[in-house]
Amino acid sequence: MEKETNASSIIDRRGIYYQAFGLYGGIAGFYDYGPVGLRIRRNIEAQWRSLFVNELGSLEVETTNLMPESVFRASGHLSTFTDPVINCATCNSSYRADKLLEAFYESKGMDKEAAAVKRLSKKEMEAKIAENRIRCERCGGSLAKVEDFNLMFKTHVAHKGGEAIYLRPETAQGIFVDFKSLFRLYGMKLPAIICQVGKVYRNEISPRQQLVRLREIIQMEAEVFFDPEAEETSLGEIETGKILSSEIAFAESGSETAKTRSLADLLALSLIPNRHFAVLLYLEKRLMERLGMPSGAYRFRQIEKEELPHYSRGNVDLEVKTSYGYIEVAGNAYRTDYDLSQHAKVSGNEISVVSGERKLVPHVVEASIGADRLLFSLLDNSVEEGKDRGWEWLRLNERLAPYLYSVFPLQKDGKLIEKAKEIHRILSEKGVPSYYSDSGSIGKRYARSDEIGIPYAITCDYDTLGDNSVTIRNRDDTKQTRKLISEIL
Ligand code: GLY
Repeated sequence: MEKETNASSIIDRRGIYYQAFGLYGGIAGFYDYGPVGLRIRRNIEAQWRSLFVNELGSLEVETTNLMPESVFRASGHLSTFTDPVINCATCNSSYRADKLLEAFYESKGMDKEAAAVKRLSKKEMEAKIAENRIRCERCGGSLAKVEDFNLMFKTHVAHKGGEAIYLRPETAQGIFVDFKSLFRLYGMKLPAIICQVGKVYRNEISPRQQLVRLREIIQMEAEVFFDPEAEETSLGEIETGKILSSEIAFAESGSETAKTRSLADLLALSLIPNRHFAVLLYLEKRLMERLGMPSGAYRFRQIEKEELPHYSRGNVDLEVKTSYGYIEVAGNAYRTDYDLSQHAKVSGNEISVVSGERKLVPHVVEASIGADRLLFSLLDNSVEEGKDRGWEWLRLNERLAPYLYSVFPLQKDGKLIEKAKEIHRILSEKGVPSYYSDSGSIGKRYARSDEIGIPYAITCDYDTLGDNSVTIRNRDDTKQTRKLISEIL
């Protein structure tokens, strides 16, 4: 059973997302989005696109989800994209050895030991699990050997002897593989930015915490290709001065305490690797603001050397405080020329570009945002108890809300229904997301509208039939004002 979170009851009651193939008992780590959840997630993607694609002047692509083994031999995922697994000798349940140990130490209040788990080798984890007599959570059986478990899902194309195919664990590899031809076809110049939104797949050993540890994930990624020796002062239309003077809450590696610092200071102190990286952090902060994340709910955290992905020379995570504690919502990495050089080597094709007088393999910084985790953490931070009105509701801002308006007839009267449906239809024709309902009492409908965070409710009553005015109820304070329909449409 998953732990209750702030938004659990609204999420379950309204089917915002739910366990996939529940009819067949479900499998951990797979969730389906219902209509409301999908609209909210698409709104997140739209805001990401507005900043990372449109404002940054990037190209957005869509590459395949299945990719051949050579891609992941080159990228290093085949050999290093692993988690330490330990199996129960009796019932064969699998656990992530590091998470098991961390949870054990945390339950004993041994925070220093919990924080040190990430530095342990497989043998050391094995020894600590034995020493602390940690047993299988399901059957109490003994846990033996810690082994590497590759997180990629493997399959084959329909032809004998062909190369194995994998579901991609990140969208970035499709961008790296296509980089050379996109650069030429689109006449790109450094710094060049290519983005992608899409599904990625990770065979998590013990998925849990709703959308936090999934096996199918939506990533929103931006890859910035640049010349590490050039002194660019801006990316696209964005002004570097404004960016560098903006401040973020930043926790240095090894510290849990975030201090407010300007991006210029973080650069001067070499806490972030370069200006391109600063731009990505700035845009993530703007994304949080646009989506209405409370400013005290998130921080950036410099990742310790031991935790760095195999391709990275420096990482900063964006973390959000939720019912599950701080969770990573975005990873920002300085991938250097690692991926392009590896693909050149393994494919046997040169991947370089000419920039000014020089021919070079560009370096890359990346912003990789998990859309599902972002949605989870936004919902978790938006719940209002609503004791005054008698129901819980979501304080979602207009950009995030599934619909801008709900439209109701005051009563189930044919004339009022017709009028309300007409308003709903006109709003829809104008591209304004609206939700129509005439089921249940008006009070119940307001409650249902508030629950999924719809900012305004339009109600048609008998005056509407005479003077074309309606009431507009504001979700946040429940106050109603009267307006002419023509003022809204
Ligand atoms: N592209 C970064 C990641 O998937 O972890």
